[in-house]
Parts: sequence; C-alpha cells; structure tokens
Amino acid sequence: MDKVAVAQSFDDAASNYQNHCQLQQQVGSKLVADIEANGIILDLGCGPGSVVRDALIARGAHWFGVDLSLSMLQQARGHQQANPVVQGDVEALPFASQSFDGIVSNMVLQWCDLNRAVEELLRVLKPKGRFDLAIVIKGSLQQLCSNDSGLLRVNDFPSQSLVEQALSQHVIEYQLAVHTETYCYPNARALFSSLKGVGANCSDKPVTGLKGKGWWQQVNAMLEAHRLDEGLPLSYQILYVRGRKL
Ligand SMILES: C[S@@+](CC[C@H](N)C(=O)[O-])C[C@H]1O[C@@H](n2cnc3c(N)ncnc32)[C@H](O)[C@@H]1O
Repeated sequence: MDKVAVAQSFDDAASNYQNHCQLQQQVGSKLVADIEANGIILDLGCGPGSVVRDALIARGAHWFGVDLSLSMLQQARGHQQANPVVQGDVEALPFASQSFDGIVSNMVLQWCDLNRAVEELLRVLKPKGRFDLAIVIKGSLQQLCSNDSGLLRVNDFPSQSLVEQALSQHVIEYQLAVHTETYCYPNARALFSSLKGVGANCSDKPVTGLKGKGWWQQVNAMLEAHRLDEGLPLSYQILYVRGRKL
C-alpha cells in the first residue's frame, strides 16, 4: 500500500470524517467497551480520535494518538489543542520500547504490513500491557462486488489467518472474535459518499476507464439487490483481537 496515497486520502477526508464515520464509531464503541483504561494508552491510527479517545479519557486513562495523516491529527488534538498526538507510521513507531501501558487500534491495521505493525506495537508496549485491536478482514464490503461483474474493486483485506500468523511470532496471549458490522444507507450515493468521507476510497486496485451512466445504473442495481427495510447495507467483517504481552 502506497503510504503517501493513504495519508493523502485520509488528509482529504479529515474535515468531514465525523459526518461519515458511523460504522467506525459502532466498531470503536464495541472495541473500548470493556477495555482496561489504566495508564497511558496509545491509539494507533487514531484519526480524529473521537470515539476511542473520549471513552478512554472519560474512564481515567491517558490517551496518546499517532497517525500518518496530519489533518486527522489536527482534529484529534481537540479544541484547546489539549490532546497529545504525534505523526507517525504504525510500521515504524516514533517511540522508545516499552513506553505504553496499553495499545488500542480501531479499523487501521488493514492498511498496514501486519508483521511489521504487530512487531512495532509489541515493542512499544510494556510487559503485561494489553492490546485491543479491531481489524477489517477479508469478506468485507461484499455488497460492492457481489455479482462478479468487476464493476467495482474492493481492497484485498487481510485474512484472519494472516493476522494469526503475525501474532503467533510473539510471546503473547490473545483471543480473537469475528463480528459482521453493518451500516445502512438511504441510497447508493450516500453509501459511496460515506466511503469517500472516511478516506476508505483509497484502493490498491483502482477502477480504470470511464464510468458513464450505464456503469452507474449497473452499480445501483447491484447494490439495490441487497436493500433491507433500513436501506442499502454495507458490511464489514471485523476481527477483534484482545491480548496481553507476556
Ligand atoms: C478508518 S480511519 C480510523 C480512524 C480512527 N481509528 C477511528 O476509529 O475513527 C484509519 C486511520 O488510519 C490511519 N492510518 C492508515 N495507515 C496508517 C499507518 N501506516 N500509520 C499510522 N496511521 C495510519 C489513517 O490516516 C486514518 O486516520
């Protein structure tokens, strides 16, 4: 994945992110619901920070954010520039070893080299420190490619076994759980504007060629085939990883 393109895509999304991140909030709330909020917790790929940051601070933890995107970090700093954040890459964290009591990361690691990201997060975590991660995995966004027509391309999200392989290299204990998280949109335009609005339109497989009226009608028909009472669903497979460094 091209880091400059990823940062650019999230920079572009930053000012509007909060209006489109309902799914990220749904997953983030679940991720931090039972978390141990002790000491300094590093939020990997914190984005504007809202859900995870506010929940952790409310429960007495010291939140610290790191993200590739400067514009996301400007939002995360908060109105009084009070929240500590640093620009950095999850695959090469700008922190000394054993700096943090806990690590949390919501819907970020699918953009990273998992082996490097896991190695780095465990390096900066103190012994006995906890990590709680929500990772988008294979099988996500199926509604966008449900009729094999190649109209749209979806990123190659990592498989659960790839995540397990990265974790298994280390002396840790962990539990995994996969949940399907779905959010419904009134129509196809709202669905795409939400994907763009959270910066998730940065694909490693861009769709090429002109997209005319016929293309749009076919995409619309593909999505409408999934319509529920609540609207057009978009589903993510989320792997929740909860563990401790030994
Ligand atoms: C979908 S947003 C999630 C933001 C936040 N965690 C939330 O729950 O709202 C993904 C974030 O990951 C950041 N990101 C992607 N790759 C990264 C990397 N290699 N290092 C640091 N941040 C990264 C992006 O800039 C973006 O802010």
